Amino acid sequence: MSLDSTQWHAKPKFPETHYVDTRLYTDETLFREEQEKIFGKSWIIACHESELPNAYDYRTFQHPAGTPLIVVRGEDTKIRSFYNICPHRGNTLLYDPVGSAKRIQCIFHAWSYDTTGRCLEISRGKQGYQDRFKCEDTGLREVRTTVGYGGFVWVNTDDNALGLQEYIGDALGMLEPHMSMPLEVFHYHKAVVNTNYKLWHDTNSEFYHDYMHYFNRITGMLQPGYFERKYVGYPHGHASVGSMQIRYDAYEGSKERGVGWPGLAPGGWILIDIFPGMTYNLRTSLIRMDTAIPLGPNKVVIEFRGLGLKSDTPEQRAERIRDHNVIWGPFGRNLHEDLLGVYGQGRAMRDRTDSKWVIHGREEDMTIHDEGGMRHFYAEWSRVMGRSASDPFSDDRAAPESAKTRAAA
Ligand code: FES
Ligand SMILES: [Fe+2]
Repeated sequence: MSLDSTQWHAKPKFPETHYVDTRLYTDETLFREEQEKIFGKSWIIACHESELPNAYDYRTFQHPAGTPLIVVRGEDTKIRSFYNICPHRGNTLLYDPVGSAKRIQCIFHAWSYDTTGRCLEISRGKQGYQDRFKCEDTGLREVRTTVGYGGFVWVNTDDNALGLQEYIGDALGMLEPHMSMPLEVFHYHKAVVNTNYKLWHDTNSEFYHDYMHYFNRITGMLQPGYFERKYVGYPHGHASVGSMQIRYDAYEGSKERGVGWPGLAPGGWILIDIFPGMTYNLRTSLIRMDTAIPLGPNKVVIEFRGLGLKSDTPEQRAERIRDHNVIWGPFGRNLHEDLLGVYGQGRAMRDRTDSKWVIHGREEDMTIHDEGGMRHFYAEWSRVMGRSASDPFSDDRAAPESAKTRAAA
């Protein structure tokens, strides 16, 4: 076989739906467009309601479309979100990642606002503006906020985007019966990785990489039912994976999980990917939530949350925390391997790289080693961006220099 027939020199031997141009993971132009067309219009999880337990509790959130936000619980217990930007001259209002503020006062000229966004005071307002401009004429910019699907706080910076329910559709149907009770975050950490956010979502959308996870091979891949789990795609780019029974006892030093989860068969595992970068992962005794927040084409913050039931006894909670940390905590058996995987991809696929395409071509009847979950994601990416994921600059006269070079290849 001639070397010239390999994918380093010619497009892969698959339909265009089965491979992706690597500039999707590196190109600054595409990233800016994703911020506008994808993140600026999608529902994004900012935090969980249990992280704002009391009136006036807030969290600051760097929204992936680029706008910094404040998420705050009001005196009326309602959770609202606002731009973290002072309407006077654009200073940052709140700097801490978490806190409590009955009154939000800007450090610059001391204008202040309440937790419903109302302006409370303009310092020396009368002297400076007389009757030309008053508190009623200003206030914080509110952002659409809905609490739901397990008590997560979803935000959407587009006032005209479709509602959260319509956005999710039936995608979380498998999980909803298991999230009807109040949940509580017991674990939070984040990883900042020099890689593209889609690569993390890809990792959550395929199980073929279980070859990398000794723990998953022993407790899952080698157990009955693993290859029967199927991917189901939903509108708007979401996908779910059916359940199986995880055999923790097959792993040295582990035991059957006892605490379980309401309504979930013992050892059950349901995973649901929500476009463009969130994953619900209910595994035996807890939910893990990943949110991928890009900072640029080659930098992502991944927030990891572990959740139990609000009604947990101390013993139940301790067991959930242990189950979480064995696999997924920063020192767990599994999570850092996934991080190494996407770090390695980001390290290799830099702009101007010689890598031109990555392949999503596995077809196994949509079972767990099929790459249909990723194909479903990139079909939605192409629809929303108005570009082909396999050839994103095909008819773009403003394409960067690298695009022209590749088109000629
Ligand atoms: S910028 Fe906030 S008070 Fe002036
Ligand atoms: Fe993994």
